[in-house]
Amino acid sequence: MSSVEVNYLNLKLKNPIIVASSGLTKSADKVKACEDAGAGAVVLKSLFEEVLARKNIKDTYELYDHPEVYEYLNANMGLVYGSSEYCRVIEDSKKATSIPVIASINCISANWWYEYAKQIEDSGADAIELNIFSTATSRLQTSDEMERMYFEILANVKSKVKIPVAVKIGKYFSSLPNFVSNLEINGANGVVMFNRFTEPDIDIDTFTFKPAFSMSTKEEMYLPLRWIAIVHRQVKLSLAASTGVKTYEDVIKLVLAGASAVQIASVIYTEGLPVIRKMLDGIDNWMKNHQIENLSDLKGSLSFVETSKGVANHYLRAQFIEKISDIE
Ligand SMILES: Cc1cc2nc3c(=O)[nH]c(=O)nc-3n(C[C@H](O)[C@H](O)[C@H](O)COP(=O)(O)O)c2cc1C
Repeated sequence: MSSVEVNYLNLKLKNPIIVASSGLTKSADKVKACEDAGAGAVVLKSLFEEVLARKNIKDTYELYDHPEVYEYLNANMGLVYGSSEYCRVIEDSKKATSIPVIASINCISANWWYEYAKQIEDSGADAIELNIFSTATSRLQTSDEMERMYFEILANVKSKVKIPVAVKIGKYFSSLPNFVSNLEINGANGVVMFNRFTEPDIDIDTFTFKPAFSMSTKEEMYLPLRWIAIVHRQVKLSLAASTGVKTYEDVIKLVLAGASAVQIASVIYTEGLPVIRKMLDGIDNWMKNHQIENLSDLKGSLSFVETSKGVANHYLRAQFIEKISDIE
């Protein structure tokens, strides 16, 4: 019997497929549907800063500093969680299911919501995912300052709760291995690579702004693949891949690169929840064909560290240049 059980954030998952934070996980009923569809865990829809949620966000300047806020609130304008309502979703989800339920907090500042972290833990969440995003908009802001904000938020949360804490990050960092290592030093139990933010767009007829939103494409999976492979073994924390994961092959590739788990949203929006079972069946068949008993034994076997011993490394740019030079 092949096993697809994995360990993510010190939690035992029956399989590595997590339904990512989104409208798909905004209520206990939806979480139950994810479990019934085979998901190994869920990350609840993010709890947003209430103050921001109450504003007329379309007109606020800060909105454009934080495009993901615009997107997520727009995608779900009716859903404005208060902290007690959010805690109820956690409690109800825990009652309705037996898979790990990871709460998610959207953090854009280092101060407003620390009180809630404990309430979230007390409500029975198995872990917290901090969905942190901040954009540098001034030439005076240094990378160091920007990164320090993440560490402050994380260290503060860690001082309030005992449950594992993951940080979901965006893809723009100068030295990702160093940054992830510092997240670990500041207490992170896991890092999710990467959040997928709405990009800004401009309407050239009305001279106004609009969010550019689309579901992810399969090509986007190569970015988490590369960075998970590079970071794996340089840190001990769990790595989860998010963005562009569509098929069972993607899951296997990401595990080989070093991921403990994957998070999916777009593919469920486009194909429906049955896609989870399809992916699990695909993994199972593949494991049988390759006579692999435990999926977790494969974790990181094709990571950067594993494959950089004396051989040309496939995760680096040189390889890319070699490849495209064949294309006339
Ligand atoms: C409609 C929608 C709502 C989302 N809401 C959230 C959210 O509240 N918090 C969060 O961290 N990510 C949110 N995300 C991002 C997803 O969790 C995921 O990281 C991203 O979509 C990339 O994965 P995918 O390629 O499988 O879609 C949302 C995504 C979508 C499509």
